[in-house]
Amino acid sequence: LNIIKTHNEEHFNETGAGIITSLLQSNPRAILGLATGSTPVGVYGKLIELYRKGSVSFKQAATYNLDEYIGLPADHPESYRRFMDEKLFNHIDILPENTHVPSGVEADPQTAAEDYSRLLDEAGQIDLQLLGLGHNGHIGFNEPGEELQGPPHIVKLDERTRLANARFFNSIDEVPTHAITMGIGSILHAKQILLMAKGEDKAEVIARALKGPITTKCPASFLQTHSNVVVVVDQAAGKWL
Ligand code: F6R
Repeated sequence: LNIIKTHNEEHFNETGAGIITSLLQSNPRAILGLATGSTPVGVYGKLIELYRKGSVSFKQAATYNLDEYIGLPADHPESYRRFMDEKLFNHIDILPENTHVPSGVEADPQTAAEDYSRLLDEAGQIDLQLLGLGHNGHIGFNEPGEELQGPPHIVKLDERTRLANARFFNSIDEVPTHAITMGIGSILHAKQILLMAKGEDKAEVIARALKGPITTKCPASFLQTHSNVVVVVDQAAGKWL
């Protein structure tokens, strides 16, 4: 486990973007697994800057996102597809057809999960999977519970997760109750994992994930079983690492 403690927001974002950029420089056709949420926003901003400077190109790269809310059309302001378009894809040279986010609006969400699973299988192995970390230890939307699932699947969101994400909606009632997410198996299949967390409120959970027992009660703890994980934290989130 390679833990990088960064000094400030700028350094945090630069470090994350630097890892992704180095990969694309050595392998322009890299397959990236991407995340939404507030943690990677600054990283995406940095990648846009680096692209504008000519330091990196996404022209031959492909991306697969972790998750999407069920019931939100792609153009909904809070859909993860829209998030990715606005925070990254619209500002770089990636080909739209090479960006993949699960569909939240299939009549049968189960079919959407199976379609995404097939798509990932066809893509082969993700070279680098970027992850944020939920306060309850979730990665993607793999919520704590009695068991975890390997492939992409439908999940009922934890109330804590809905509450945390309610800040982006008018009220908690508007936060979808279900999502489609890559499973723990899909995530662990990646060649390399880049886990990022910042802020005091993530200190406890990241220590539990990386140093505590491996348990379905903390899905991120399964990252301990992967041989190539880079963890990037700020001082606050990393205080117990
Ligand atoms: C996002 C995702 C989630 C977030 C996590 C942390 O695609 O899968 O697991 O990474 O909820 O969210 P933030 O970064 O907003 O604290």
